[in-house]
Amino acid sequence: MKELAYRNVHKRVIEFTQGECDEIAIMSTIVCELFHGIPWIDWVGFYRLIDKSTLKIGPYQGQHACITIPIDKGICGKAVQERTAQIVADVHQNPYYIACSSSTQSEIVVPVFHKNGTIVAVLDADSNLPAAFDELDLQWLEKILEPLKRVYWI
Ligand code: SME
Repeated sequence: MKELAYRNVHKRVIEFTQGECDEIAIMSTIVCELFHGIPWIDWVGFYRLIDKSTLKIGPYQGQHACITIPIDKGICGKAVQERTAQIVADVHQNPYYIACSSSTQSEIVVPVFHKNGTIVAVLDADSNLPAAFDELDLQWLEKILEPLKRVYWI
């Protein structure tokens, strides 16, 4: 079931962003397709690293979210500091977690890298279901983020 949902989202993202090199256009398309195509995602968006210690909200879909996250806070901040994806099965057990919605149970955060090795943004997805995300979600999300390489890997 996960495979099928992600395969469709991936196909649509690739199709709609073909030849597109604008980062906001690509990010907006990715979050739109994920929000409407993945039933276990209740909020999804990008946080952009605007200086060495600050994440700022980017394109997102879902309820209102925190606008600014310092990188020493949040699962998003942890992903930046550790330079690796975070899969959190129960957000309430995670001391880094910043709550934006009381219904969120689990979360996945995937860093977006520039060609030079720096992190430019993170993709954050939340679910109202516990332990909604696993390695399969991570693999697909990384694949779905690939059109951004057109912007950051040139
Ligand atoms: N939960 C995130 C904050 C952003 S919201 O989920 C939209 C975090 O802990 O970094």
